[in-house]
Amino acid sequence: MDLGIRGRRAIVIGGSAGLGYAICQALAAEGVDLIVFARNAQKLASCEETLQAEYGVKVHGCAGDIANESDVDRLANESLSLGGAQILIVNTPRPPSPMRDFLEENDQERWTTGYLQQLHGALLVLRKLAPLMMTSGWGRIVAITSASVKQPMPRHAISTVFRAGVQAALKHLAMEVAEHGVTVNAVAPATVMTPTFATYHNLERRILEVPMKRAGTSQELAATVAFLASEHAGFISGQVIQVDGGATRSFC
Ligand SMILES: NC(=O)c1ccc[n+]([C@@H]2O[C@H](COP(=O)([O-])OP(=O)(O)OC[C@H]3O[C@@H](n4cnc5c(N)ncnc54)[C@H](OP(=O)(O)O)[C@@H]3O)[C@@H](O)[C@H]2O)c1
Repeated sequence: MDLGIRGRRAIVIGGSAGLGYAICQALAAEGVDLIVFARNAQKLASCEETLQAEYGVKVHGCAGDIANESDVDRLANESLSLGGAQILIVNTPRPPSPMRDFLEENDQERWTTGYLQQLHGALLVLRKLAPLMMTSGWGRIVAITSASVKQPMPRHAISTVFRAGVQAALKHLAMEVAEHGVTVNAVAPATVMTPTFATYHNLERRILEVPMKRAGTSQELAATVAFLASEHAGFISGQVIQVDGGATRSFC
């Protein structure tokens, strides 16, 4: 299916590896030009080269930290100087590793890191970039959160607490930008295989806990994101779509 977004430009936060990179590939395959934001400039340069060569789209790397306001301001300016972006993918860094239960999380530094990278960073990106998307009458914002926004998971305390805040901000924003043709949705994964996920302990047990008895692929997640970023998803907003092999036990 042609997603109807050829020629659009997308900003992908955390787009140089893992799920973010898979999302870059899915959008590039639809003819979407990319602005990829991540910290490591060398990794970004290699992404630019590979994505341009494989998909023939324009790719601009912007090196910065999601938690740093001046980096996010620079991202906004660079996107404006390229003519603006109509698609924004908010893919925040992972929580501090290893993940722990709430009463085990006694290290304030880990809470601060989790707050800065997952909530503060996401809010910075949304507050600074969403207003730039309201002028053209068409926009798509998709955030990668976690299945824990619907059902708290063991050992995910930091992630569960801050992603709830991200989810609340997305719902607010969805209502505020809807009349400008901008949709705002979240994709909430669990047990989706990435190079980082593959290093987690108890991997086999975690996979057996998934009703489908397998891990998801980053391509399955990226295809869901690309659909929500597409022309066809224009009347879907304020929603959370789980990509978790049926693991979440909530009704809706
Ligand atoms: N896989 C799953 O099943 C699952 C489940 C629930 C939630 N998630 C969430 O999905 C997200 C992506 O996971 P992943 O496994 O793809 O992560 P990953 O492999 O660790 O990739 C993270 C990406 O973000 C960039 N990044 C890291 N810290 C950054 C920062 N401070 N500022 C800007 N960019 C930064 C990295 O590049 P640099 O290092 O160069 O900055 C890289 O491009 C995470 O939030 C994860 O918790 C995944």
